[in-house]
Amino acid sequence: MSFITWKDSFSVGVPSIDDQHRKLVEMINNLYDEFYKGITDEFLGNLIKELEKYTVYHFSYEEKFMKLYSYNGFKEHKGEHDQFIEQIQGFKTTVSKDNKTAVIDFATFLKNWLLKHIMGTDKKYSKLFSEKELY
Ligand code: FEO
Repeated sequence: MSFITWKDSFSVGVPSIDDQHRKLVEMINNLYDEFYKGITDEFLGNLIKELEKYTVYHFSYEEKFMKLYSYNGFKEHKGEHDQFIEQIQGFKTTVSKDNKTAVIDFATFLKNWLLKHIMGTDKKYSKLFSEKELY
């Protein structure tokens, strides 16, 4: 059983963005699976690097269309993105193969943040992005 099981209800109605969200879910599930297999510091280092890189790409993608379509929730939405990137920095110093609690805290933080953000904040642009026929 996956840590996060993708559900149709997670869809924001934009296939390209749903694909990006699925990729993030996959990365978080990999972290969780690896934890139970015997996580290494090398895996954790690479995972955090990849997660940072991919979230920056994904957030920029959403922000580009929010700006293009003059979305009025842009500032607040970008604020959540920026805060997430900062919070990831904080975990860099705590997660390690010898600090299992920190790894579980990290995985739980990622899961809770992503699902809350998709279901609450991302879904607010669904109507506008769909009207603009963004795929
Ligand atoms: Fe899908 Fe606003 O992040």
